[in-house]
Amino acid sequence: MRIKIFSTPHAAARSLAHEVARALEDNPRLVLGLPTGRTPVPLYRELAALSQARRADFSRAATFNLDEFAGLTGDDPGSYRAFMQRHLFDHINLPARRIHFLNGAARDEGAECARYERAIARAGGIDLVILGLGANGHIGFNEPADALVAATHRTTLSAATRRANVVLFRAEQARPLHDAHRGREVPRHALSMGMATILHARRIVLLATGGAKARCVDRTVNGPLTSRLPASFLQLHRDVEIWLDRAAAVFIQP
Ligand code: GLP
Repeated sequence: MRIKIFSTPHAAARSLAHEVARALEDNPRLVLGLPTGRTPVPLYRELAALSQARRADFSRAATFNLDEFAGLTGDDPGSYRAFMQRHLFDHINLPARRIHFLNGAARDEGAECARYERAIARAGGIDLVILGLGANGHIGFNEPADALVAATHRTTLSAATRRANVVLFRAEQARPLHDAHRGREVPRHALSMGMATILHARRIVLLATGGAKARCVDRTVNGPLTSRLPASFLQLHRDVEIWLDRAAAVFIQP
């Protein structure tokens, strides 16, 4: 695992945005895997600025997001699709037909997950997947469990993950988890790329910032491979980089 440490989350985001722009220059048909969460928001802001300055060209690229809440359509303001639209897709020159998303509202979830795997294969596989890190070590929505699932699948979200998503889920109308009467709850299930879907990407960059992720980053990089910390399986990949700010790196710095 190659580790890069930046002085601030913003410095990491800016540098990663330039790295994506370079990758697009090398391969204009780049296939990207993308995360949601608070961590990538500064990265998306930088990518939007680069695209608007014509220094990043997404016109022939394609994107596949890692996951989506079950039961939500893409136009639901709480969906990850809407989140991506707000933070990135509305601001870059990526044609809508090249944006790929799991349909959380699909009636046949198994068929939807199989469709997604086929779409990734048809696109030639993912060239670069950017990952966030759940505070419990999840990647995408592959939660800690006795066993992990290889392919894109339906998953049950842990209470901790649902709490972490309250802020993101309908940011403007978010309510506490159990307050179903005053607002909508964070969904209990999601569709997510599986561990193999992620590990089959040609290149992986995990972006983690802030002291709250520091322990988890240490276990990801230095701990044993365990399904109790899905991100630890990234150690198996031959082209994986861990991009951190100083706060997230405190336990792994020499
Ligand atoms: C969500 C997403 C993950 C993301 C994680 C971390 O649960 N499904 O893909 O990595 O949150 O979020 P944050 O960056 O807000 O800490």
